[in-house]
Amino acid sequence: LTKDTYHTERGDYGQLTSEDIAYFKSILPENGVVQDKTDLEIYNQDWMRKYRGSSELVLKPKTTEQVSQILKYCNEKKLAVVPQGGNTGLVGGSVPVFDEVVISLANMNQIQSFDPVTGILVADAGVILENADNFLREQGFIFPLDLGAKGSCHIGGNVATNAGGLRLLRYGSLHGSVLGLQAVLADGTIYNGLSKLRKDNTGYDLKQLFIGSEGTLGIITAVSILCAPKPLAVNAAFLGLDSFEQVQKTFGRAKGELSEILSAFECMDANSQNIVAKYTDLARPLEGSHPFYVLIETSGSNKDHDDAKLEKFLEGLLEDEVIADGVVAQDETQLKNLWQWRELIPEKLGHGGVYKYDVSIPLADMFKLVDDVQARLEEAGVVGDSEEFPAIASVGYGHIGDGNLHLNVPLRRYDEKVEKLLEPFVYEWVSKVNGSISAEHGLGFAKKNYIQYSKDAGSIELIRDLKKLYDPKAILNPYKYV
Ligand code: FAD
Ligand code: MLT
Ligand code: ZN
Repeated sequence: LTKDTYHTERGDYGQLTSEDIAYFKSILPENGVVQDKTDLEIYNQDWMRKYRGSSELVLKPKTTEQVSQILKYCNEKKLAVVPQGGNTGLVGGSVPVFDEVVISLANMNQIQSFDPVTGILVADAGVILENADNFLREQGFIFPLDLGAKGSCHIGGNVATNAGGLRLLRYGSLHGSVLGLQAVLADGTIYNGLSKLRKDNTGYDLKQLFIGSEGTLGIITAVSILCAPKPLAVNAAFLGLDSFEQVQKTFGRAKGELSEILSAFECMDANSQNIVAKYTDLARPLEGSHPFYVLIETSGSNKDHDDAKLEKFLEGLLEDEVIADGVVAQDETQLKNLWQWRELIPEKLGHGGVYKYDVSIPLADMFKLVDDVQARLEEAGVVGDSEEFPAIASVGYGHIGDGNLHLNVPLRRYDEKVEKLLEPFVYEWVSKVNGSISAEHGLGFAKKNYIQYSKDAGSIELIRDLKKLYDPKAILNPYKYV
């Protein structure tokens, strides 16, 4: 998008001066102030390559105290800031719109403590999710969140977006597993809520406000989180199914028959798998093609028991003709390969022209949305791969076990004509079934004008009131959803 297509005016914020830079240099280590144009590039550009800001300054504090000093100063000077973690967000929330100062948490990357009895981890916000998970695995635990961007995203970014991921079905939302956090408010006040308690009913649960606030209420600097024991046995099955009705039946039966060992239930349509096949050398898990595929993962403590349970479950599905085909991973490598057919979808859909929708809708309606969008694209003659209309199709996949569909329309480049076909059509569709227009990615910049499709006027007013209270000068992540 160009500046014109942002349709946004720069707010009445201060302009950076050499005096400001001198102040930041006085409080931060040498590598904590980034001004080089080439170095700034990765902080200004989002993962989707859809949004690009023009910040001339990135600050990389090492301590909460430094974050506090930076914000106090910015608040006094009314300098706008954007908190940034791993910059893997998918709604344009992590990059500046104009010249906001980027505050990157990348240098706050230490594990603070871990209790191997309770499984409670306390870590800096800038610890990369995969690093946290690797650390925990060595102690016999896992991080209770996993997602395709694990190699880059930060746990602070995960909390700030309330990321859902691939195993929410099993380990629940971060609103449940985060026990406490530390955050710095716009005026530099440090909120010290780094509790390690599972139970604490002493007044409002303030940490919940920051979970999913997308950098608009404060900068999260540390997180305390309850981690799950590492499963001793993990297995996965990849299934081919002839209809979405069969997918739903399979899900119902998986909950009943696999019950306590079910750890993921992901669904992918044929378009999504064709894209992975086209852009990788991976061998397809199943021979024939099917309109739907399901990846089921089990995690338990007894391999023989779990394998027998999974086998019996799959035999039953085949016998009752609920599934058309299926394969079970025979070892760790096969398990990883099966997961690739799910995890590689976002990457292989490409950067540079994907319309992404991340919605919660009643399970039965889920792929009706994908079909309706496809019909709409076809009716408008934009399906296929012509130079004029490079929309290829409506692609659906997602965390079906959580009622969360990812609807994507990959184009070769962003196209206003196609956008007008999709928006507000998709949002109206979701609103009619009382769904959510953002199940897990947040609103950021991309969806800020559509919040009313999922929240009523009273709720939006309360959100604005909170923002005014916590950040009266609106310096934190401006132009985004509040
Ligand atoms: P960023 O992208 O840097 O920031 C995201 C938002 O949080 C921004 O608004 C930013 O201002 C704010 N923020 C970041 N850090 C802080 C902080 N310390 N304090 C305050 N605000 C902060 N998301 C899911 O929910 N489920 C998935 O399965 C999933 N899979 C993904 C797969 C891929 C390949 C990619 C690229 C993304 C995926 N995402 C998914 C989206 C994204 O990775 C997550 O939302 C992730 O949690 C963002 O973390 P981050 O550190 O990259 O945050
Ligand atoms: C996923 O589940 O793969 C992520 O949320 C990313 C995406 O929606 O593409
Ligand atoms: Zn997702």
